[in-house]
Amino acid sequence: MPRIISITGQKGGVGKTTSTIHIASRLADLGFKTCIIDFDTTQSNVTRSTIGPIWESEQKVRGICDVMANGGSLDEVFYETERENLFIIPSEKKDARGANYNIEALLNQLGLEGFNLLKELIENSERLGECHFILIDNAPSLGITTVSSLLAADYFLIPVQTSDLSMESIGDTITAGLKVKKLQNPYLEPLGFFISSMDKRPKMAKKAIVELSDLSEKTGIHFFETVIPISSKFAFLPRERKTIFDVTKASERGHKEYLGLVDEMLERIKAIETQEAQLTSKRLPGKEA
Ligand SMILES: Nc1ncnc2c1ncn2[C@@H]1O[C@H](COP(=O)(O)OP(=O)(O)OP(=O)(O)O)[C@@H](O)[C@H]1O
Ligand SMILES: [Mg+2]
Repeated sequence: MPRIISITGQKGGVGKTTSTIHIASRLADLGFKTCIIDFDTTQSNVTRSTIGPIWESEQKVRGICDVMANGGSLDEVFYETERENLFIIPSEKKDARGANYNIEALLNQLGLEGFNLLKELIENSERLGECHFILIDNAPSLGITTVSSLLAADYFLIPVQTSDLSMESIGDTITAGLKVKKLQNPYLEPLGFFISSMDKRPKMAKKAIVELSDLSEKTGIHFFETVIPISSKFAFLPRERKTIFDVTKASERGHKEYLGLVDEMLERIKAIETQEAQLTSKRLPGKEA
């Protein structure tokens, strides 16, 4: 059974796509069969940064939008990438006639069915069923696409930038995730939040750490010890369809920390799943500890 992680955050430009690609690439390098679902269907930035802008290709490559709008299986739009063990379900942004898809409107029109469409498509995909991890990149909103991604997920992870606005907005993202867990998806667990690009000014950095530690204490949501530093290298990666792992040494800024982030994430998952297994065995008659 794959573990499905939704990378969420209602604020734009906080590092959702960058962290989705880097976490997924590291998981793939560790030997885990990993697929990214590009569910930011208006920007399609994961697609752009990995296999390229498929909507501009002559072959009219299909992605998740076509499957959602016209039917079919995600198996038909499950593609290899140049990285071993890393696969992608792309978002193609435009339909065969060049018109923009509006998946948000489509799902809203479908009502309850719309909220559950992504979950159903994932559950019915054989190729996704063979993966160890599925990472879902989301649009910067808490609209129906993000909610449907939380309905499909086992975990949600929140990248945060050390600007005040982003710090405020993560409170709303946490609330949305916990609401989905309470009302619709009891299996959804918050993996936590992490700093996806740390302010270089020591005063701002310190303030951010204090505020986020407070938030973690108040909400009980894990605040990752690993902090990703700002590095100008990240800006050039999407265009070159590369990751920081491909262009820097393991000891360099950003590279080292993304390795650490994935280690910490895997430890978190192990801790959550061990605790869940203990709880389940305690609830089973005759298996009390
Ligand atoms: N650690 C970092 N250091 C410097 N730049 C970074 C870092 N992480 C991400 N960036 C840059 O910040 C910008 C926004 O990142 P990204 O696209 O991942 O955010 P996002 O949350 O997915 O945005 P959106 O909400 O628009 O989808 C990009 O130009 C990316 O290269
Ligand atoms: Mg993005």
